[in-house]
Amino acid sequence: MAADSANEPALALAFPDYREPAERFAAAAGIGCEAIRVHHFPDGESLVRLPDRLPEHVALYTSLDDANQRLIELELAAATAATLGAERLTLVAPYLCYMRQDAAFRPGEAVSQRIVGELLARHFDTLVTVDPHLHRTARLADAVPVRRAVALTAAPLMADWIAAHVNEPLLVGPDEESAQWVSAIAASGETEFCVARKTRLGDRDVRIALPEAGFAGRNVVLVDDVASTGRTLAAAADELARRGAASITVLVTHALFVGDAWATLRAAGVSRICSTDSILHESNGIPLAGLLADTLLNPD
Ligand code: R5P
Repeated sequence: MAADSANEPALALAFPDYREPAERFAAAAGIGCEAIRVHHFPDGESLVRLPDRLPEHVALYTSLDDANQRLIELELAAATAATLGAERLTLVAPYLCYMRQDAAFRPGEAVSQRIVGELLARHFDTLVTVDPHLHRTARLADAVPVRRAVALTAAPLMADWIAAHVNEPLLVGPDEESAQWVSAIAASGETEFCVARKTRLGDRDVRIALPEAGFAGRNVVLVDDVASTGRTLAAAADELARRGAASITVLVTHALFVGDAWATLRAAGVSRICSTDSILHESNGIPLAGLLADTLLNPD
């Protein structure tokens, strides 16, 4: 049965870069999927075009990597959907941007998490995302004040992937903030885990202190929510290699992998990298379509 309780079924609308995962999501949810067309003018402005008639419930699908561009295009699409018959908008954004700036760390800084959250809540009734970076903010609804804010976790899927690919794994979280994800994966797979301490000195300057655990000869899986420059995971991998780990695998929910992140991780001794398909990347090995669709099919 289709997802919506209204007469018309819901419709998924896919932004161009996310057409394939949006179609997988729509197929799993048993709903249709149509394209959002985006034209980029030479000056960098975007023209967004939707199907000209929409049902009552529309689910817009895009991850919010490359956030500054995608947010404005999402804003254009959501405001337009409301003029084309959509009365209820769901945002399916497996990766939710601007979650890490959850406080003003220095006087005068924007608290981006709250500001972007309020922007999204102007249009959307429901938000569905995966492993959002909630650290000082306890609940997703506190960051994005929509009627229904759903924070899914990829932890069970990651635990399954580890069980299928890594022999006698030891899970390591590179910093205190990763403890929530690494402990959830460890609990799903009944696996050993520990958490390191991180000191960030700059965007690409990170120091990691590993706990006093036995890493020699172990198949270590480094787990984090986001890999951006890759420096957090690379610094951890450097230390693990120094302590004699037999193999180092990286497993992340959101594969931003900007610039030379991929090469930096390989140079640090990482032999295998896997991510969910929340952000499209060659490391994608864990599809999220079923997890996301379940939320649409089972609203409560
Ligand atoms: C922060 O705590 C996040 O969980 C990640 O560890 C961080 O965003 C990774 O950034 P990078 O890859 O640039 O070190």
